Amino acid sequence: MGFFIFGRDPPSMKKKHISFELQIFEDSSELSQMEQNLLHQADAARLNAYAPYSKFKVGAAVLLENGEVVIGNNQENAAYPAGLCAERVAVFQAGAKYPGVAIKCLAISAGSELMENTEPAAPCGNCRQSIVEYEQKQETPIPILLKAQNNIVFRCPSMADILPLAFNGSFLGDS
Ligand code: THU
Repeated sequence: MGFFIFGRDPPSMKKKHISFELQIFEDSSELSQMEQNLLHQADAARLNAYAPYSKFKVGAAVLLENGEVVIGNNQENAAYPAGLCAERVAVFQAGAKYPGVAIKCLAISAGSELMENTEPAAPCGNCRQSIVEYEQKQETPIPILLKAQNNIVFRCPSMADILPLAFNGSFLGDS
């Protein structure tokens, strides 16, 4: 085994390169009206985040196929792991209120109260894992907009793009 780690690759070894296109906007005004509107709702939700420990506030807004928008923000707790990220608050609430309705877009606005973040923050691994399951369930990509407080926006075409080799129910025998 050590030979293959430190020695030459065997000729039979296959390689797969995984990449995705991250779209970068210098200002949110470059986005479509729909996207700007969703980001505004994420911005507004961010202001109501309960983040007394990290002082890192995050707001999320989910646009559904039926036109409804569901928002969320991070909810912290003195027992730190008991809190929940903004993205999951929003997506879980959307699933609870509108079960089976596809998500068209997810906008996230994040930023620290203690420092200036120069780039948008991307969802944590747990959120990626949770949300990629909704993407697989609805069989259409969920585009993600990530906004920093300096107005720079990253757009990811889908959640699967930022969670390559995701674990999913197929490993458990589900289809
Ligand atoms: N947080 C989110 O709400 N979303 C993210 O994508 C990253 C982190 C929250 C969790 C916690 O309340 C705070 O930000 C600092 O980690």
